[in-house]
Amino acid sequence: MEMTVGAGVGTNAIVRSLTEDMYYTGVDIDFVCAKNADVIGRYYRKNALGLCASLWNLPFSDNLFDVVCSHFGFDECREIPTILKEAVRVLKPSGKLITVSRHSAWLRRHKIFETYNIPEAQALELMRQVRLYADFEQFDALAVEAGLTRTDYIPFENWYLAEYTKP
Ligand SMILES: C[S@@+](CC[C@H](N)C(=O)[O-])C[C@H]1O[C@@H](n2cnc3c(N)ncnc32)[C@H](O)[C@@H]1O
Repeated sequence: MEMTVGAGVGTNAIVRSLTEDMYYTGVDIDFVCAKNADVIGRYYRKNALGLCASLWNLPFSDNLFDVVCSHFGFDECREIPTILKEAVRVLKPSGKLITVSRHSAWLRRHKIFETYNIPEAQALELMRQVRLYADFEQFDALAVEAGLTRTDYIPFENWYLAEYTKP
């Protein structure tokens, strides 16, 4: 299950590599974005379906998915603790959460807070209060708090890939 389909960049990479016994479900709160997954599935003739729903309240039963992933999705979402709680809920035991995200939130990278004379420490506190993605360190701490164990971390220049496992 992919958390956020968006333009479908991550979806394309996942769906094209599915084997016949694999099923992909993509979730996005924007209907048109969610339906990008259907089109990509049809193009590659794979089992792929997009659902319009919120990551804050997923329409799935507990312990359903082998893998939950997100490609530049978490760093543009609010309520990261709730989203992580939902990811853990729908993952099977030993299931993986895999995320590709920017090291630091767009708002911080582009120095938006500085434009309003808000210092870095205060900006981080504001982001924490409204439960916005701030950076890898914050996401990692929240993932551990949600009950996940980090099993891989590959940093690149501006982004990283992290893998977590549900016990
Ligand atoms: C930057 S895009 C994701 C990029 C996409 N994964 C890709 O690879 O092309 C962010 C997406 O997150 C979705 N989104 C934001 N908050 C959401 C939420 N609470 N539930 C579901 N989708 C959400 C937006 O509708 C948007 O399509």
